[in-house]
Amino acid sequence: MAQTVRNLCVTLALELCATLLFVYPSISFATQDKTLFFVFGDSLYDNGMSLYTGDKEAGARYWPYGESYFKKPAGRYSNGLNIPDFIAQFAGLPYMPPPYLLPGNKNYTNGINFASTSACVLVENCPKAINLKMQLDYFVEMVQNLTKQVGKSEANRLLSRAVYLFDIGKNDYVTLLQMNREKRPLSSSEKSLYVKQILGNLTIHIKTIYKKGGRKFAFQNIGPIGCMPSMKYMLGFNGTCAEEPLELARMHNAAFAAKANTLQSKLPGFNYTIYDFYTALHHRVLYGNVYGFEETETACCGSGVFNGDYTCQNRSMTFSVCYKVKDYLWYDAWHPTHKACRQLAKEFWSGGYNNVAPYNLRTLFAMG
Ligand SMILES: *[C@@H]1O[C@H](CO)[C@@H](O)[C@H](O)[C@H]1NC(C)=O
Ligand SMILES: *[C@@H]1O[C@H](CO)[C@@H](O)[C@H](O)[C@H]1NC(C)=O
Ligand SMILES: *[C@@H]1O[C@H](CO)[C@@H](O)[C@H](O)[C@H]1NC(C)=O
Ligand SMILES: *[C@@H]1O[C@H](CO)[C@@H](O)[C@H](O)[C@H]1NC(C)=O
Ligand SMILES: *[C@@H]1O[C@H](CO)[C@@H](O)[C@H](O)[C@H]1NC(C)=O
Ligand SMILES: *[C@@H]1O[C@H](CO)[C@@H](O)[C@H](O)[C@H]1NC(C)=O
Repeated sequence: MAQTVRNLCVTLALELCATLLFVYPSISFATQDKTLFFVFGDSLYDNGMSLYTGDKEAGARYWPYGESYFKKPAGRYSNGLNIPDFIAQFAGLPYMPPPYLLPGNKNYTNGINFASTSACVLVENCPKAINLKMQLDYFVEMVQNLTKQVGKSEANRLLSRAVYLFDIGKNDYVTLLQMNREKRPLSSSEKSLYVKQILGNLTIHIKTIYKKGGRKFAFQNIGPIGCMPSMKYMLGFNGTCAEEPLELARMHNAAFAAKANTLQSKLPGFNYTIYDFYTALHHRVLYGNVYGFEETETACCGSGVFNGDYTCQNRSMTFSVCYKVKDYLWYDAWHPTHKACRQLAKEFWSGGYNNVAPYNLRTLFAMG
């Protein structure tokens, strides 16, 4: 209706236009083009879920997380903002989508962040986390509540215009390598079966959103997990990047790209884009000075070789925090710094075809 009125406003006399707006006073042109932002994923995207789950072990509740930006822990696994936080800023949203479990939050019209630390795709890999399946259950519940809040047709319109951002799967591959640590190299059929199961389940969840009206999907692919300080520490690997984890990430990313393409051909109106996080982060590890990072192997916060022992914030352990965080790519053994997240989010938002394809997030947000 609002669209119709707007078109009439363009074509008809001003006086009539004013009358129509008087007849439909609830129509607000300001909110008409609003794009909701929904976030799914693991600790890279978590912006505070663990503050509300009662999980006392969740690191982002404690110092020194949040130190550089919030001056206190803020539920992010970073010294400041994470990638979705920056994207919300670049998109000009009034604020960052709040975590779904934020108490008293009953207003969904600014989007929601469902991401939660340790989340994975295969439920058995992270039984205690708010895994992707549970995030989707929350999403379905939210759609019901949103529909009550704004009515069915407005909810449909908002859901089809919304952007759905994902970062998921890394923890599944870490689990696989963790379980296999003492054993033989994984066979290629084992690896491809694993990738297939992950993609099979991920597809189910994407389709759930599609069925609820979602059309605009953005995926950050799996990063160079062999370069993470935590992975190197776990494997006892003393080099820049361990190859087997890198290979798993590449297998997943290639298979996922093919899967997303198939989904687009099967689901009318399905649009997606993929940010090549793997290459972006790998390049920063290898050529840090090009991006303004002096230290790309050792984390700012933690203990052990590369600060790869994930002890950052753990008061019952001894850990160190770096002095010049601006020099660091990794804040802790798993997660990039505020400065790195800003660079990565910027590429995702406005990067070229070699970073994010077939289009960047700015284009995806603007799509009808
Ligand atoms: C701190 O480390 C101890 C010993 O490894 C571990 O049992 C505990 O879960 C950790 N606590 C947090 C908050 O990470
Ligand atoms: C959704 O709505 C139901 C029923 O109105 C309510 O019980 C529930 O708390 C709501 N969920 C959230 C997260 O607001
Ligand atoms: C929800 O938030 C939007 C944007 O901030 C605001 O315009 C609207 O009034 C809020 N609705 C409710 C029910 O609080
Ligand atoms: C989903 O994952 C489970 C293991 O958690 C697996 O048994 C099942 O085959 C997967 N589903 C699909 C459609 O791939
Ligand atoms: C790791 O390799 C470096 C040389 O690249 C060496 O100086 C260092 O002692 C090694 N550390 C361990 C724990 O093996
Ligand atoms: C969105 O996806 C549909 C197919 O699902 C395609 O026809 C359309 O061209 C896409 N839109 C853009 C802007 O690429």
